[in-house]
Amino acid sequence: MTTADNPSPEQTTWGVGPWQGEWPLDADGVLDPIYDPELLTAGDTRNVLDKYRYWRMDAIVADLDVRRHKFHVAIENWQHDLNIGSIVRTANAFLAAEVHIIGHKRWNRRGAMVTDRYQHIRHHPTVEDFLTWTKSTGPDGGALANGKPLPIIAIDNVPGCSKIEEYELPESCVLLFGQEGPGLSEPAIDAAEVVLEITQFGSTRSINASAAAAIAMHSWVMQHVF
Ligand SMILES: C[S@@+](CC[C@H](N)C(=O)[O-])C[C@H]1O[C@@H](n2cnc3c(N)ncnc32)[C@H](O)[C@@H]1O
Repeated sequence: MTTADNPSPEQTTWGVGPWQGEWPLDADGVLDPIYDPELLTAGDTRNVLDKYRYWRMDAIVADLDVRRHKFHVAIENWQHDLNIGSIVRTANAFLAAEVHIIGHKRWNRRGAMVTDRYQHIRHHPTVEDFLTWTKSTGPDGGALANGKPLPIIAIDNVPGCSKIEEYELPESCVLLFGQEGPGLSEPAIDAAEVVLEITQFGSTRSINASAAAAIAMHSWVMQHVF
């Protein structure tokens, strides 16, 4: 059944039909393990890059895993924020190491458009649990290195914040976002190394949280990839 937490199968209106010609078999006649025989037979209309057509999902995730970027994304989820799905989709697009949901475990997956299947997602019931994780994670996302926790870069427009446009984002970091309405909680702000605002010019107090997340992730990409 299709529900908000259980979206429809990963189908789009585009894609490719059944594999044409000889199947990709090795010299012993065994199918290359990156390929999914069901997709080869039926075609592949999933929301994936053409490069991944007919690939098994676990093979796609394994390919992403060797190239993931060093930034993580975290979002507070005390009110089942509808932005989380969209943030997960953007985190997948920009190849975040992991997405962290702080607060309620359940979140509305509709906006993720099934990208959550390709993105590592970790749940932390409280900000404290999240902090315990950042302190047990080294700069490369592995074990704690030289006792240095993964820096938390809070993204919100609160008094005393700095401008993201003028800030050198660390290569290994967690970009932490608040919810629509309340924004970041006090414990989350207190835990951050810095709070960064995205400079606005109009009359509204803030932009949508998932729009802010997309801008912040792209800022990291502009500083560390290009
Ligand atoms: C709608 S905002 C809520 C609170 C906001 N501090 C206010 O004064 O209205 C929800 C979340 O979106 C992000 N956000 C929205 N606009 C932002 C901006 N201009 N700069 C940085 N983050 C922003 C932050 O992560 C924030 O916690």
